Amino acid sequence: MSSNSKPRILTGDTPTGRLHLGHFVGSVENRLALQDSYECFFIIANKHAFTTRAEKPDDIRQSVIDIATDYLACGIDPNKSSMFIQSEVPAIDELTFFFAMLLPFNRVMKNPTLKDEIRDKGLGDNHSFGFPMYAVGQTADILAFRPQLVPVGEDQLPHLEMTREVARKFDQVYCGVDPQTEDRDYVKAGGLFPVIEPKLGRVKRLVGLGAPGADGNLLKMSKSLNNAIFLSDDADVVQKKVMGMYTDPKRIRVTDPGETAPEKNPLWAFHETFNPDKAWVEETRAAYAGGKIGDVAVKRKLIEVLNAVIDPIRTRRKHFEQRPDDVIDALRIGTRKANEVAEETLALAKKAMKQDYFPRKLSM
Ligand code: TRP
Repeated sequence: MSSNSKPRILTGDTPTGRLHLGHFVGSVENRLALQDSYECFFIIANKHAFTTRAEKPDDIRQSVIDIATDYLACGIDPNKSSMFIQSEVPAIDELTFFFAMLLPFNRVMKNPTLKDEIRDKGLGDNHSFGFPMYAVGQTADILAFRPQLVPVGEDQLPHLEMTREVARKFDQVYCGVDPQTEDRDYVKAGGLFPVIEPKLGRVKRLVGLGAPGADGNLLKMSKSLNNAIFLSDDADVVQKKVMGMYTDPKRIRVTDPGETAPEKNPLWAFHETFNPDKAWVEETRAAYAGGKIGDVAVKRKLIEVLNAVIDPIRTRRKHFEQRPDDVIDALRIGTRKANEVAEETLALAKKAMKQDYFPRKLSM
């Protein structure tokens, strides 16, 4: 076993852009809070980026560096936590092939997150063979590290459920674990893989800056919807974005407190999420509902609040932007550690599957 006896965490991001406030409250905050008590692995899932941008390798490469820089800027400490590049950890791919045999094809295609992505990205029947494969690959991203906990946003839960199914199936088929075993006892019962637990963030789904969608609800913050505030945005960009943010146009005339509901009005969703002064939020919201205070004053306050969150991140980001070699070094060291753990898992998995013919050593 590895020398580090702390329980493990595995989570990560697909490099399709920089990190925004939705990532921060959905998962990054949890990672920061847990990096002392867990051995943390953060995967930059560059292969997954090829599902939708196979023709844009330059963008993917840039985004890998951007995400790594964002992690360091947020306070992820490379001396404590390992951030790594998915495609440089071959054991993940090798496990993916074996795990793909443990999941019925139709089960994968019923994964609601995949179905939503096919719909939202307009992929229709034209998605690649590899597209649904990424969800199978994600079960290997996770199980290669045999983690206890996987901190993610709500949209990842279907992938985590599939991961739990793979772990149970593998342990039953190859490790002789009784199917009646409680999820938390699989490893105790002789299983190689733990039936992992998700850990959701403080805010499950942060809304974006724009108007509600067709169903009347605000859309989630997302780079592709062009409604995000990035952790790397300058103060004047934050100001511009907040000033241009959607608010309910009927507010002045309507005193129904429903008009200030965070699910209808992003201004209040953001204050509730980021403003530490809860008394101010409550009082001002009442005044706003009564038409006694306007959008501009509340937006000004929000700019202050958001900049207080983003300022320290921005400062550290500038530091690392000027030291690209430090970012690469952190990735190299993290990837090396990730390979140590993932190779060990693969060796154990092959042994359980009776496919352990020639032991090997991987070197970077
Ligand atoms: N699918 C995740 C996302 O788009 C990224 C990811 C890849 C991931 N592998 C993972 C998250 C393993 C958690 C665990 O954000």
